[in-house]
Order: sequence, then C-alpha cells, then structure tokens
Amino acid sequence: MLFLLPLLVLAVDAQQPLTLNSINTFTTSTSLFDLPASSQLTVSVAIMLPSVVPGSGGGADVFEIQLTDGSGQWSGSAPSGGLLSCPRYLEQGSFQISVSDNANLPAPDIPSSIPNFTLVIAPTSAQLSSLPQTACALLNTSSTVSIAGNDPWLRSSEGWRSQWLVDGLTPSTNYTAYVIQDVFKVSGPIYFATKSASFQCPLVYSLPYCPSIAYAMPLPPPPSRTFGYNATSLPDSITLPLLQYMNNFTTMLTTFACGRDLYSPLQTCADCQTHYRTWLCSVSFPRCSEQAPGNNSTAASSSSLGTAAQVPLSALQPQSSGSPSRSSNFPNATYNYSSLLPCLETCNAVDRACPYFLGIKCPTTKFNAAASYGVGFIDSGDGDEIGNGVTGLAQDRWGNVWCNGN
Ligand SMILES: *[C@@H]1O[C@H](CO)[C@@H](O)[C@H](O)[C@H]1NC(C)=O
Ligand SMILES: *[C@@H]1O[C@H](CO)[C@@H](O)[C@H](O)[C@H]1NC(C)=O
Ligand SMILES: *[C@@H]1O[C@H](CO)[C@@H](O)[C@H](O)[C@H]1NC(C)=O
Ligand SMILES: *[C@@H]1O[C@H](CO)[C@@H](O)[C@H](O)[C@H]1NC(C)=O
Ligand SMILES: *[C@@H]1O[C@H](CO)[C@@H](O)[C@H](O)[C@H]1NC(C)=O
Ligand SMILES: *[C@@H]1O[C@H](CO)[C@@H](O)[C@H](O)[C@H]1NC(C)=O
Ligand SMILES: *[C@@H]1O[C@H](CO)[C@@H](O)[C@H](O)[C@H]1NC(C)=O
Ligand SMILES: *[C@@H]1O[C@H](CO)[C@@H](O)[C@H](O)[C@H]1NC(C)=O
Ligand SMILES: *[C@@H]1O[C@H](CO)[C@@H](O)[C@H](O)[C@H]1NC(C)=O
Repeated sequence: MLFLLPLLVLAVDAQQPLTLNSINTFTTSTSLFDLPASSQLTVSVAIMLPSVVPGSGGGADVFEIQLTDGSGQWSGSAPSGGLLSCPRYLEQGSFQISVSDNANLPAPDIPSSIPNFTLVIAPTSAQLSSLPQTACALLNTSSTVSIAGNDPWLRSSEGWRSQWLVDGLTPSTNYTAYVIQDVFKVSGPIYFATKSASFQCPLVYSLPYCPSIAYAMPLPPPPSRTFGYNATSLPDSITLPLLQYMNNFTTMLTTFACGRDLYSPLQTCADCQTHYRTWLCSVSFPRCSEQAPGNNSTAASSSSLGTAAQVPLSALQPQSSGSPSRSSNFPNATYNYSSLLPCLETCNAVDRACPYFLGIKCPTTKFNAAASYGVGFIDSGDGDEIGNGVTGLAQDRWGNVWCNGN
C-alpha cells in the first residue's frame, strides 16, 4: 500500500522509518517514510508553511492526504505497512508526521502559554451580577466552594479550554460563575443549577475518546477520595466495546470513502467521524438528570407543550433500580434515576455528514423516535410533533437541560 501526498515522482531517497504513537518532526531532504504495519493506522501531517496547492492521487491502494489549513489526516488498514511520500514543496520548511494505531481524531497541540484564568462562583442569591462587573470587584468576593482541579481540556474541534472540577456545592441551588482572565478580562455571568440531594449518579469526565462528555451516569459510587470517574477509573467493560465501535467505524469509513474521492462537496470524512463520535458517546453513556427545580408538573402536561408553556419538560425516562441500562455495557443500577435521552439531532447530524453507503438510519417521529431520543427540542420534529423546535438548543443558559446533546 502506498500513500501519496500530492503526487510527485521522486528520486530515490533514503526511507525514514516513523515511530508509532509519537510526533516525528522533519526539516528538509527526507521525502519517503516507512509506515508501520497496523490494522488501524492513522497518519497525520502538519506543515509549517501556508498556502499549499492540493494535487491528486490515484490507484487502488494509493491515497492522497488533502491538507486543510496546513494539516491533514488519513486513517485505514495497513496490515503490511506502507510508504508515505512527500512532495518537494514540503521540503522547503519543516513538517510533522505522526502515526498512531489508536485512531484518535487529530488534536491541535496544547498551547505553550495558557492565560491565567480564575473561576469565581457564588450562589445566585449572593447577587454577584449586581456588583460592578469588573475583575477587581468579582475577585474580592469570598468563595464558598473549592476548586478540586483545573486542567486544559480539548472538548471539541473549537480548541483548548480550561476545565474546572468544583467541590463543595450545595444541592438544589442556583449558582452564578465568572471566569476572569489575567486579572482584568471578565467573562460571564454563567448560570447553573445543582441537582437535588437525593440525586445519586456520579460524575464522569475527562475521557479523551469522548471529550465532550462530562455528566452524571448511572454507575456505582466512584472510587473513594475521587470526585467521579475519569479515564483511569471507568471500567474497561464500558470503555473497550466503545473503542471497538469507534475503530470499526473508522476502518469502514476510511476503507471505502476517504482519501480517494470526495463523497460530498459539503462534508468530509473528518466531519462524519466527529459526528459519529458525538452520537456514539451520547448513546453509549446514559446521562442521569432530573426535572428542572421548582417544577412539579408531570409528563401529562407535555401534550400542551407546543402551545402554552415557555419552559418545556426535559426528555427524561424513569429507570428503576435493578433494571438494565439503555447501554448494554453498563451495570444494572442499584438506585432509581431518570435517564436524559440523547437529542435526535445527534443522530441526524451523523446521517447528514456520512456517506450514504454506511447505511445510517435515524428513527423518525412517526415511528417512535421519542422512545429513545429527545425529539423536537432543537429542530422541529417532522410535521406535527409536539415540540416544534421549542428551544432550538439542548439546554438553556440557566442550567436546564432538555436532551443530551453532549
Ligand atoms: C492568577 O490570578 C490570580 C488572581 O488574581 C492570582 O491570585 C494568581 O497568583 C495568578 N497566577 C499566576 C500564575 O499568575
Ligand atoms: C473587598 O471586600 C471587603 C468585604 O468583603 C470590603 O470591605 C472591601 O472594601 C472590598 N475591597 C474593595 C477594593 O472593594
Ligand atoms: C433557580 O432559578 C430558576 C430559574 O431559572 C427558578 O425557577 C428557581 O426557583 C431557582 N431555584 C432556587 C432554589 O432559587
Ligand atoms: C483520574 O482521577 C484520579 C483521581 O482523581 C487522578 O489521580 C488521575 O490522574 C485521573 N486520570 C486522568 C486520566 O485524568
Ligand atoms: C469490530 O470488528 C471486529 C473485526 O471485524 C469484530 O470482531 C468486532 O465484533 C467488531 N466490534 C464491534 C463492537 O462491532
Ligand atoms: C413540589 O412537590 C413537593 C412534593 O412532591 C412539594 O414538597 C414542593 O413544595 C413542591 N414545590 C413546588 C414549587 O410546587
Ligand atoms: C414548570 O412546567 C410548566 C409546564 O411545563 C411550565 O409552564 C412552568 O413554567 C414551569 N415552571 C418552572 C419554574 O420552570
Ligand atoms: C440486570 O437486569 C436484567 C433484567 O432485570 C436481569 O435479567 C439481569 O440478570 C441483571 N443483571 C445483573 C448483572 O444483575
Ligand atoms: C424506585 O421506584 C419504584 C417505582 O418505579 C418504587 O416502587 C421504589 O420505591 C423506588 N425506590 C426507591 C429507593 O426510591
């Protein structure tokens, strides 16, 4: 198998081996690389020169890596390794190649200097928003919570963010938060509400393969002296099947659709993979939630949703203790909880972004979509569905979450 960056015939050069799961940086003169053998290989290329003219590749086992904004990626099966060739224009500057067999989506490097962010949190009743909205006023408030962790986190393709793990919050309380950058720049107010004291599901967060997941799941209490489950403590019985689904999907996608022809003028393989990952994560990780605080209306009122109420009811499904979870790899819960259904739009996004031959089919509202998805919160359901896109969003700025869009 041969991989080609925009096609070029090369004089015989020394072939440079590439090390698996590490970033290899090259400057000039090398243009042929040996790829290691793997059934699941991902090759990422990043250049440090702007404006590259794409070329064209061809042949059954020849793939071209298209560069967008200076980087590009290929994933697929290379059971007996392969050859990566780079065109001459790359030799004018330095470039990086990484070869991995763990099928992660491409990730930008962590920024070398992270601004100093300070998180300020207080119960909404403390009325931070009536103070002058300045860093000096907000930083002078006393905190009732403690910060248990603060790390940079690559939550989505939008880039790196600061993530805080906060301890000492009071149940059933509205909170207001601000983020202050370098002691003068204020972002906020950000509002959120804590769950009630009887809420039992622990937090799961910081999973590199599902980076946008950070919510409560129907699991037993987490290991002692931790604040929840992360990639270290989440059981393999949950993680491994998920990674297998992702790898199998990537193999299927890249073997047939990527690198040879464009299957759509609007969507790329990376879009398809990103939306598939979002969907897979939201259906594989059941989310616990509860009805918005202060609201005792029952589900019976949902038929009037489209007309009367401004505040819709979340797509919650009661699950009783001992019953199996929606996700077959989860243990049966030992307590009652309500499961927040994934937004139907997470499935529709995969359908739109992926090549048709993958056979992705989402349920329609006529055929019972609402049994397994939150329908009508973001887009209108098809036709006469109750929600009619009531919220346009999976959640609002007050911390009410209608469906799991993660
Ligand atoms: C970041 O800002 C906070 C609040 O002003 C300050 O206490 C802290 O020392 C700063 N940290 C760094 C590394 O500058
Ligand atoms: C900071 O807060 C204290 C009370 O908590 C107040 O006495 C003091 O004047 C404040 N300082 C400034 C600069 O606003
Ligand atoms: C929290 O805010 C919501 C509005 O978003 C309000 O309906 C509710 O009563 C508040 N809860 C408390 C405990 O203040
Ligand atoms: C998971 O959490 C534990 C304890 O809080 C911590 O020691 C560990 O480094 C974390 N692992 C990851 C991958 O974040
Ligand atoms: C992934 O593919 C392998 C090999 O084709 C297969 O044995 C396995 O069952 C698949 N896993 C899932 C979760 O579909
Ligand atoms: C909600 O119902 C509970 C009992 O089911 C009751 O104690 C509480 O006062 C009610 N809250 C509101 C805002 O109606
Ligand atoms: C509670 O739900 C009803 C019906 O959905 C809605 O009309 C009302 O505004 C909600 N109240 C709060 C405080 O969210
Ligand atoms: C989970 O619940 C199902 C249905 O109630 C039951 O058949 C199964 O044995 C339970 N599994 C475990 C591990 O308890
Ligand atoms: C769980 O819910 C069932 C009804 O679905 C109820 O009979 C049972 O008492 C609840 N258990 C607890 C611990 O609340």
